[in-house]
Amino acid sequence: MLKIDKLNLKFKSNGFTKNLFNDFDLSVNKGEFVCILGPSGCGKSSLLNILAGFEKNYTGSVLLNDEKILKPDIKRAIVFQDYALFPWLNVIENVSFGLKKKIPNRQECFMQAIRYLELVDLVGHSRARIHEISGGMQQRVAIARALAVQPEILLLDEPLGALDDWSRRNLQNELIKIWIELQQTILFVTHSVDEALLLASRIVVMNVNSEKVLDIQLEAEHPRKLDHPESVKIRLLIKEALSQKLKKNTQENAAQSSISDNIFDPTI
Ligand SMILES: Nc1ncnc2c1ncn2[C@@H]1O[C@H](COP(=O)(O)OP(=O)(O)OP(=O)(O)O)[C@@H](O)[C@H]1O
Ligand SMILES: [Mg+2]
Repeated sequence: MLKIDKLNLKFKSNGFTKNLFNDFDLSVNKGEFVCILGPSGCGKSSLLNILAGFEKNYTGSVLLNDEKILKPDIKRAIVFQDYALFPWLNVIENVSFGLKKKIPNRQECFMQAIRYLELVDLVGHSRARIHEISGGMQQRVAIARALAVQPEILLLDEPLGALDDWSRRNLQNELIKIWIELQQTILFVTHSVDEALLLASRIVVMNVNSEKVLDIQLEAEHPRKLDHPESVKIRLLIKEALSQKLKKNTQENAAQSSISDNIFDPTI
């Protein structure tokens, strides 16, 4: 359903022209949960911004169900790390915000918003103001808001990065539940190898030059354990894929480093 061919993004930075992606290709099928991993600055957010329709100055072909992506559209919903909720609206008003256009009937719009608040377990807080709920709850509101418009693809840019471990774990479980229940196509950017191993049906790893260095399917059933043989094997493949490039780029022997979740830190 999503097809990216020969993607390049050029921009000027400090008087120099920089090229991101270098003919990057990626195809995503309906219902896949794709986690994108890669070191800081490799272009993960830029890729999501292109898919969301915020960044138009790319070359190559980016098609969602054969339609070229050139502007934002509710077919492609995006959630950022910092929630980006409207603080002057309460929880249900936030979830209804984008829906009003799609469902002009007030009662139907309300019912749809409630349905998605149920999905993230927040119906009891529908009238709460945003500042009255925790960070984890705010991110659940942002996810409910994105899902309520029933997008063809859900784009998540490090959505759990700002949360404490407990909230992060809870939301990971919620996301798996949502993915299974709605068969939602998801593109999820994260820095955490563990998170990708726990969630993804497929992991794509980019290196510092925004090249795809690994693209691998995961078969293990959810809920997963990190000591599952598949997780252990794929963790090693991710490390190998990245260490090749790190060795070239930094002259450091990254292959000697211990396997950790901080795999993208070029100093290890
Ligand atoms: N419009 C722009 N103008 C100038 N530089 C840009 C622009 N968009 C992206 N960049 C640069 O492109 C590179 C990739 O940025 P991007 O935010 O996509 O990386 P990232 O992989 O999401 O990093 P992080 O993991 O830190 O979030 C960075 O060097 C960034 O400074
Ligand atoms: Mg980013």
